[in-house]
Parts: sequence; C-alpha cells; structure tokens
Amino acid sequence: PTFRFDRSATPVAANERAARLVDPGFGRVFTDHMAVIRYAEGEGWHDATITARAPVTVDPSTAVLHYAQEIFEGLKAYRLDDGGMALFRPEANARRFNNSARRLAMPELPEALFLQSCRQLVQTERDWFPQIEGGALYLRPFMFASEAFLGVKPSSEYLYMVIASSVGAYWKGGARAVSIWVSQDYTRAAPGGTGEAKCGGNYAASLLAQSEAIRQGCDQVVFLDAVERRWVEELGGMNVFFVFDDGTMVTPPLTGTILPGITRDSIIRIARDQGITVREEKYGIDQWRADAASGRLTEAFACGTAAVVTPIGEVAEPAGRFTIGSGGTGQLTQRMLDALSAIQRGRAADPHGWLDRL
Ligand code: PLP
Ligand code: COI
Repeated sequence: PTFRFDRSATPVAANERAARLVDPGFGRVFTDHMAVIRYAEGEGWHDATITARAPVTVDPSTAVLHYAQEIFEGLKAYRLDDGGMALFRPEANARRFNNSARRLAMPELPEALFLQSCRQLVQTERDWFPQIEGGALYLRPFMFASEAFLGVKPSSEYLYMVIASSVGAYWKGGARAVSIWVSQDYTRAAPGGTGEAKCGGNYAASLLAQSEAIRQGCDQVVFLDAVERRWVEELGGMNVFFVFDDGTMVTPPLTGTILPGITRDSIIRIARDQGITVREEKYGIDQWRADAASGRLTEAFACGTAAVVTPIGEVAEPAGRFTIGSGGTGQLTQRMLDALSAIQRGRAADPHGWLDRL
C-alpha cells in the first residue's frame, strides 16, 4: 500500500509549537501527525495513512491489554548542519522490529513500509525539530495486538503506528556522568526469554528494579545475567561499554538476553575504524569492581538512541559504591560521543552509509 495523507489534521499554531520546542526534554512533546497501518489475517497490511495524531479507542478485551503482545522501536531523525534531514540507520531498526515481531508471534512488516512510514512522518513534521543542542525528532514505531478476544493465542489483527516526539537531552540536567545501581533481586531477561526483542513487557519487568535504583540514589539500574547473577548485561534502556588502561574496550556479547543496540553496533564500528580493539566478551561484576579499584578499568559508558553516549561515573551495590576513573566523562567516552554525533549531524564522513537523507 502507499500512504494516504489525511489532511484533516489541525496543526498546532506556530507560536505554540515554538514555545513547546524551547525545552522539550524527552518524550513529552509530540508532533501533529502519526502513521498508521492496519493488519488483519487474510488481508495483510492495509490502510496505510499519515493522519492527525489522536487517541486510539480499543475494546476492553483487546489482546494487548491482557497478554502484552506489543513491540516497539526507537530511532532519531536529525537536522543536519547543511540544513537537510536524515534518519540514522532506519534499516537496522526495520530489521530489529521484524526480529521482535517473530519472537512475539506477530506478523512481519515489510521493511519498505517501515521505512516509508518513518520517512513520510519526518517529512510531514519537518517544523518540529528543536533547534537546541542535542535536539532531534525521536520516532516511536510500535505494533500491538488489536483483536478483541480473551483467548491466549496470537492476535489475528494488529495496529502499527509511528508517533514522533521532539526531544532534547534524555537526562534532566544535561550531559553528565550517571550513577547506576546493580540490581540484586531482579533480572531483566533469562535465556530463552524475550531479552533480545524490543517488547513492552521487558520494560514493564524492569521498572521495579529501576525504582529501586532511584531509591538507592542512583540514576539507572544495571542488570546481571539471570543464571549466574554475575555477568553484566545492560541497563534498563541502554547497552554498556568498558574502557581499559591499555586503550581497549569491552562490551557484553549478544547472547540472546540483551537488546542488540544499534548505537552499540555503531560504536563498535567507529572504534574499530579508529584502530581501537573492541572485544565482545562477558565481563563480571566482581571483575568490574576489582578493575575499577586497581585502575585497570578507566571508563565505562552506556549508549542508546535516546541517551546517545552517557558516561557512568559511579556504581552502587549493597556492599558500597565504587567510582569509575575520575567519576566524570572519560577521554574515550567523549571521543565516541563526538565521533557518533558528527556522523549523525552530517558533520563528518559517513563511511558506512548510515544516514538516510530525506
Ligand atoms: N538496551 C535496551 C534495553 C534498550 O531499550 C535500548 C534502546 O532502545 C538499547 C539497549 C539501545 O539500543 P539502540 O542503540 O538501538 O537505541
Ligand atoms: C531508546 O530508544 O534509546 C530507548 O532506550 C527506549 C526508551 C527506553 C527510551
């Protein structure tokens, strides 16, 4: 299907839009339109539209409300220094979306439709880019089981939508090193579970651990593996990297329980392009503590679409806290952030063809 453009939307007035874009924060300011595509068994994907952003009315028995058959993506469109616009690696999000769909027994969305829905929405919302440091349009494609039926089985109907949010920095207070709490009682994903799928249920399961992190005076939670409770996996919404005094980096391998981050993949490639050794290998919490104390570990950072690259300054456990390096932003962390941002803003060469210019 090609997208029908529903012109009935009444856009927010320009002065009101400007006011909302001054300090948008993350995920609170939404644009005027959304993309919608429907799926029904036997019919396939149909009724692709760009329409006015509006509430979705569902029956109380709708499958997603009971069994959480839902997946989503997160990607950004950037305003480039030359005035153009680009999505960052949207094909990678399209592929991951379909990997998630398969795991949740949902129909795959043709990649071309995913890309078209994102591109068309950004084109439509070109006036919603915040002209601030770190500003972007954050796209949230998602799909949910929309059949009204209480039986436990894959839904026969689905709704795919893309909404857009004008965003600034993910963290309140701007760029600074964050503190993380090592979750003791809760894990995020077990082998054979849904850890590598981007499904809402994973985030529901992480919220209590995140609340505990806040209670412990930390910004974020970091999860250990569910089997040995030893290997560092990832944060609630970010992958993690470790930097050593010999200039090498380590990040946990994609063993099925962590989300294969597109930022993670980009940083591995940028680092290797720069001649930095990156090992995808397991790293234990005991080793982390010991390496931080001995100075072998000099930096750690978290990364993801929303938070980009965020230094980890401090790690907290029941037994106490330990500091990473100076507790601030390490050199290599800054270098990765700068290199990635430069590509995303069209300020540096794009050797891997990551920008999808619109
Ligand atoms: N890990 C989790 C649990 C996430 O939610 C995210 C964000 O989407 C990431 C890692 C980072 O993935 P990406 O770099 O593709 O945004
Ligand atoms: C991301 O898109 O970077 C996310 O991590 C999703 C959400 C947790 C903000």
